[in-house]
Amino acid sequence: MRMPISLFVLATLMTFSLPGIVGAFHEGGVNFCEGCHVIHKSPSGQIQDRNDSTIPMDLKGLDASSTCLRCHAQSGKFYNVLSNDGSTYSAGGDFYWLKKTFTWSANDKFYQSSGDNHGHNVVAAEYGLHQESMLNSAPGGIYSPSALGCTSCHDPHSRTVKDGYTGEIPVSDSYGEDLGIKITVGNYRLLGGIGYNGGAQAGGVTFNHPAPVAVADAQNWVETNSNHTAYGSGMSEWCNNCHSDFLTGNGKHPVGNDATLSSTFISNYNSYVKTGDITGTQATAYLALLPFESGTADKWSLDPSSTSGPAQGANLMCLTCHRAHASSFKDIGRWDFGTTFVADSHPRPGDGGATGNDMRNSYYGRDMVAEFGLYQRRLCNKCHLLD
Ligand code: HEC
Ligand code: HEC
Ligand code: HEC
Ligand code: HEC
Ligand code: HEC
Ligand code: HEC
Repeated sequence: MRMPISLFVLATLMTFSLPGIVGAFHEGGVNFCEGCHVIHKSPSGQIQDRNDSTIPMDLKGLDASSTCLRCHAQSGKFYNVLSNDGSTYSAGGDFYWLKKTFTWSANDKFYQSSGDNHGHNVVAAEYGLHQESMLNSAPGGIYSPSALGCTSCHDPHSRTVKDGYTGEIPVSDSYGEDLGIKITVGNYRLLGGIGYNGGAQAGGVTFNHPAPVAVADAQNWVETNSNHTAYGSGMSEWCNNCHSDFLTGNGKHPVGNDATLSSTFISNYNSYVKTGDITGTQATAYLALLPFESGTADKWSLDPSSTSGPAQGANLMCLTCHRAHASSFKDIGRWDFGTTFVADSHPRPGDGGATGNDMRNSYYGRDMVAEFGLYQRRLCNKCHLLD
């Protein structure tokens, strides 16, 4: 379906420019729309419509995700989410892993950790990223893999605004400015909120849950124990916009705003350092491989540099165990769910498909054996103390 950009919308938006913003592309400014759309001007500078476009909505790329990746796959940029070697250590994760299938054999059996199973398979034709081949829909939901792309989850226009505002397309990045049009715009990471359509390809999807409350450093997106997304609340509910069957109950692990950690779980997390060592304290207990939500809806109270473990009110969420984009492990795990000992994780040297620094990059540059020892058991044990 071809849908040229409404000239009315463009003309309205291009007449106001936002003051004082440097470097933050999604907060708008001069040539903002041109970041993603081809906009045709006549020699006199007048905007012209063009109806012979073969690309939907006059996007710069072949599809929505390829358009995003024109910037977000640039190497060496802090906002890269698709590298050539798995070296992006952002909270969401590196889409590189979708291209990597690892194979090995043990006890005469053949094992495989397939690229398709490493992440959300965004369709980005220009970057060789294709539709998921194993699943017919989002597990526990109806969202179609053929429609999956960056704009399934991120609203390119950051339209989700307070009070059902339905005017022009405002622009913003995480919790952007008050644009002086009587509204506050901006969700965490431009994530779609209530009413979002899940992207133009989705066909009739409507999000029922708001964007999560979370905060990350503006420009340093390299995840460590002292620089990480500080999750407040609502992440699991947000994932359930597409995985509607995955909240507490249904035989799944308890998660969500209501899955608060009891004092026993809080003290387990805080004292657990590694297998055989439970001498930790709350002040330094945070492990970025195992984040939690602090249980607040107040973004101002969240601190991405905090090294503290959970306190009263904290809860478990989908991203305690998964990443949002992709990881080197099965089922988008933050670690390898398939082994008893972390040191046995795949990818590892000798695996079919493993190249370069895949092993080190899979754990975000950590040397897991040096940090946790050769006999570290499953990370679930930081809460469950089953070593
Ligand atoms: C013209 C280059 C460009 C294009 C095209 C682009 N981005 Fe970005 N994006 C950036 C830059 C630069 C940043 C970091 C600065 C900022 O936050 O605006 C960024 C930041 C982001 C962030 C984090 C924003 C925040 O403040 O938390 C998200 C999410 C994002 N982009 C998603 C997308 C999606 C989805 C698309 C495609 C629909 C897209 N981008 C297209 C340049 C681009
Ligand atoms: C299934 C939903 C989903 C899809 C699909 C998705 N994102 Fe994201 N993205 C998220 C979430 C959730 C976060 C926040 C992750 C966190 O803080 O743990 C995020 C974070 C980001 C960030 C901030 C850096 C980071 O990794 O945390 C950027 C930039 C971004 N996304 C761009 C993109 C681009 C470009 C695409 C398409 C190639 C894309 N996203 C596809 C859900 C998604
Ligand atoms: C816009 C819809 C949408 C949202 C929002 C969404 N997902 Fe998904 N998810 C899908 C679809 C479609 C698939 C199946 C296709 C695929 O795996 O690429 C999927 C697959 C998955 C898988 C299995 C991956 C595999 O290949 O086996 C996991 C795990 C997952 N999602 C976790 C999450 C988490 C965690 C969140 C929230 C951060 C989330 N999803 C948000 C649509 C969504
Ligand atoms: C970050 C990339 C990006 C920027 C910046 C951007 N767009 Fe879009 N736009 C898209 C994508 C991608 C689509 C296709 C819809 C989808 O995939 O959900 C789209 C679709 C549209 C549509 C048609 C359908 C709809 O969603 O309303 C209009 C109109 C539009 N854009 C206008 C604008 C205007 C005006 C601006 C400048 C204020 C702008 N866009 C800035 C990426 C962007
Ligand atoms: C305590 C850790 C943990 C939490 C929390 C968690 N998961 Fe999972 N998830 C797993 C493990 C382990 C697997 C692989 C084994 C299995 O299928 O049970 C998995 C598998 C999946 C799969 C693919 C398997 C399937 O059923 O098709 C999806 C999709 C998924 N999780 C989504 C979610 C969503 C959405 C949430 C939040 C609502 C969530 N998970 C919370 C650990 C977790
Ligand atoms: C952040 C802490 C945390 C992590 C990490 C965690 N769990 Fe849990 N787990 C909990 C809490 C809290 C409960 C609920 C216990 C209760 O209500 O008594 C729970 C319950 C369970 C249950 C009982 C299920 C039920 O329906 O009551 C199982 C089984 C379980 N977890 C397995 C795992 C596995 C396997 C992993 C790793 C993949 C894991 N957990 C990681 C905190 C955690």
